[in-house]
Amino acid sequence: MARLRAPTGGEGSPAGPAAGRGLLAGARPRRRGRPGAATARPAPIGPGNDLGYNRSVKLGRLQLVNFRNFRRLDLAFGPGAHLLVGDNAQGKTNLLEALYLLSTLRAFRAESDVQLVHRDAPVEGLPFARVAADVVTAGGPLRLEAVVTLREGPSGLLASKAVRVNGLPRRLHEAVGLFLAVLFTVQDLELLEGPPLLRRRYLDTLLGQIDREYLLARQRLEKVLLHRNHLLRRIREGAARRDELDFWDEMLAQDAATVVWERARAVSDLAELAAAAHEALAGGDSLGFLYRPRLGAEAAAALGDSPAALAAAFLTDLKRHLAQDIAAGATTIGPHRDDLEFHLGGLPAAGYASRAQQRTIALALRLAEAALLRARRGEAPVLLLDDVLSEMDAGRRRRVLSAIADYEQVLVTSADLEPFPAGFLARAHLYLVAGGEVTPALDAATTRTGDS
Ligand SMILES: Nc1ncnc2c1ncn2[C@@H]1O[C@H](COP(=O)(O)OP(=O)(O)O)[C@@H](O)[C@H]1O
Ligand SMILES: [Mg+2]
Repeated sequence: MARLRAPTGGEGSPAGPAAGRGLLAGARPRRRGRPGAATARPAPIGPGNDLGYNRSVKLGRLQLVNFRNFRRLDLAFGPGAHLLVGDNAQGKTNLLEALYLLSTLRAFRAESDVQLVHRDAPVEGLPFARVAADVVTAGGPLRLEAVVTLREGPSGLLASKAVRVNGLPRRLHEAVGLFLAVLFTVQDLELLEGPPLLRRRYLDTLLGQIDREYLLARQRLEKVLLHRNHLLRRIREGAARRDELDFWDEMLAQDAATVVWERARAVSDLAELAAAAHEALAGGDSLGFLYRPRLGAEAAAALGDSPAALAAAFLTDLKRHLAQDIAAGATTIGPHRDDLEFHLGGLPAAGYASRAQQRTIALALRLAEAALLRARRGEAPVLLLDDVLSEMDAGRRRRVLSAIADYEQVLVTSADLEPFPAGFLARAHLYLVAGGEVTPALDAATTRTGDS
């Protein structure tokens, strides 16, 4: 499986051997490999993480130009916890969004990348936003730069993204996951109650950062489905022959098998990691986490065998579902219809869990994501936690802060300092965020004294 590597070369990821294949959650797994073997073991000591390297900086300097409400920002981060405090609508989430963009090359809450560019930038003749950062990966230090450029389209502004790594232009997919970050936001509550698309995206974003082959298979799958569904409708109208599907079915089976196989393997690991994280955050009822792939009978039976066997079985299922697919004008089985299921103490989390419980589950899923990245990539991601403590009681807050304490770098946002215990505040670097500007708190205090 292709592992993402920094283009600067070097030893790359010192991740341990891949977690046990075929240990599938929620799909009547045929357990293979060593029974009882840990599915996601911590990364071994290697060039990337020995002797105190873990305490080093992942994210060094961050520079923004016309990103959202930031006109210009130039900020250096050190190791440890960073607390970004400010009133509503000052730019706290925007700053995390910028970092998440560098990690995934996707904007997590923008409907269109156009929104990422400061609203005055086009009229000022500088129709772009730039996010640049100095980061340290297991493969060495990198300078990452993402630029969103606007241009006039037939019906309004259009945005395009470009990325540079150490000054050299790269394809977007080549830059995904070079800088590892995991983001928690209030929108993550939707992971439990929202549409299946969001749960698939949770897996896709995570696996895209681990495995480039997965990322490409996932992207191709989308295109193949468009062609196949179009052809299904033409067959239904009598405008195309059934054997024209053969080419697309072959492609679909290969990529579907890659995606389903890796999702099943990931969920098997994530289920354990999320249960452990949830236990640490909340204790009490245990968190259950199942993969619900949408497969035909053959592929469901082959799920524990091998990716090749899965592809062959999926192809058989496609043929069996052909009449149904033609009638629907759509592909009725495949990873584009997969879902995940969460349980708390045996009950479905959606519909039963309280808001605070849902928040805790969502955070446990993000911590599981971080742990899986750490295990498979051999380096810890930077944690980006947006408003993570709100709506939590004091006990949960304390447990959240202790759960994140051993991450090299954590950025936490909050509207005020009140939820944070003195011990955390004493160790955290404090920043004030106001009107698209970020000021280290010490400087802010000095400035205020100077004013009076
Ligand atoms: N493209 C943009 N240009 C200018 N301002 C923007 C743009 N996108 C968002 N904003 C502003 O950013 C602010 C929200 O920032 P956000 O980071 O969500 O706030 P918070 O500090 O509450 O997390 C809003 O005032 C919004 O108008
Ligand atoms: Mg916010």
